[in-house]
Amino acid sequence: MKRHESLHPLSQHHHFALIQVWEMRRALKQPAAKRAAAVRAVTRKFVRFWKKAGQVHFREEEEVLLPAYARYARLDEDKDVMRMLAEHAMIRALIGNVEASLASGGVDGNDVATLAQTLHDHVRLEENEIFPRIEKILSEDEMRVMGKELHRLHKKGECAV
Ligand SMILES: [Fe+2]
Ligand SMILES: [Fe+2]
Repeated sequence: MKRHESLHPLSQHHHFALIQVWEMRRALKQPAAKRAAAVRAVTRKFVRFWKKAGQVHFREEEEVLLPAYARYARLDEDKDVMRMLAEHAMIRALIGNVEASLASGGVDGNDVATLAQTLHDHVRLEENEIFPRIEKILSEDEMRVMGKELHRLHKKGECAV
């Protein structure tokens, strides 16, 4: 199904997030001699992406997208939305861990692998399950109002990697 244009700012972030996931996985597969430096470099790049776009993206979803959906659905009865919110907290925690590790010199490859997997599954959950439900239940007018709000917040975050 074609994504409603109001959700394009979020899907654009998802696209960039999946590129970061791909880069993290590629770094983790480097031969032992190069691996630590490669993982450190992609993790640094990912933290920059998070500060530039990821933080705003989570706010867009929590402050604009889900409240619009909450007018129609009991979010606490939607296990995918509950999982989405739990993953926001998990991803924030994982990023906190890798940031602290970067500051002290070394990054744990397992943390980076978990972060990549969680991000990947999170994007898939939103694109395949949550966005289609919202597109189906909101009227065209409501989608447009929400879209304006998303575009407004989005400008502040931008998303170039
Ligand atoms: Fe999300
Ligand atoms: Fe998202």
